[in-house]
Amino acid sequence: MIQVAPSILSNDFSQFRGAVVGLAQGGADWIHFDVMDGQFVPPITFGAQLAADLRSATDLPFEAHLMTQTPERHFDAFIAAGCRRIIFHAEATVHAHRLAQSLRQQGIEAGLAINPATPAEAVFPILDELDLVLVMTVNPGWGGQALIHSCLEKVRQIRARTDLPIEVDGGIDPNTIRLAFDAGADTFVAGSFLAKATDVGRAIQELRDRCQS
Ligand code: DX5
Ligand code: ZN
Repeated sequence: MIQVAPSILSNDFSQFRGAVVGLAQGGADWIHFDVMDGQFVPPITFGAQLAADLRSATDLPFEAHLMTQTPERHFDAFIAAGCRRIIFHAEATVHAHRLAQSLRQQGIEAGLAINPATPAEAVFPILDELDLVLVMTVNPGWGGQALIHSCLEKVRQIRARTDLPIEVDGGIDPNTIRLAFDAGADTFVAGSFLAKATDVGRAIQELRDRCQS
């Protein structure tokens, strides 16, 4: 069973509560928060307060995708905000093993993300400490970009080494989801495709349907 984790990044920033309620009613499995610090990636988005304020909007689990330097500075705030999973970037720390351990010791799922320029091998040494690997299928920083096909080969390489959930993030729509699924991904972030949908429930179902048989 695949998991659909909509990103609210491409929604109207003044309408997040309605977007989250709609995604929950539409059958999403997770809500994905794209946290950007203006350093690891150029834009600044939002911090843990947004997740805290939206926590009452739905029972769906929240995941924070930290596109931030020194990601560990933000762990406590996102845990307190009610995030079940925290995903940080391999490129943003030299201590990914320790950071993943520290999340799990607090009962939080640990996800490690890699950029398009980072080889699959970067995650191999710490697979035992992770609950999820996130393979960026665009360069982080912006929604609405086209999927970079070479990233799917890394999904294959990681799938050959582990049964962990593998999430893909960037450029996922009904035309690309099957390629990522066939490469071994089972968890899918979708931002602009769902933000543009007139019927979000149908759009989520369309993503699921493309991964059938
Ligand atoms: C990019 C973010 C993604 C992205 C998803 O930095 O991590 O979550 O915005 O948006 P789409 O689906 O539009 O590529
Ligand atoms: Zn993301």
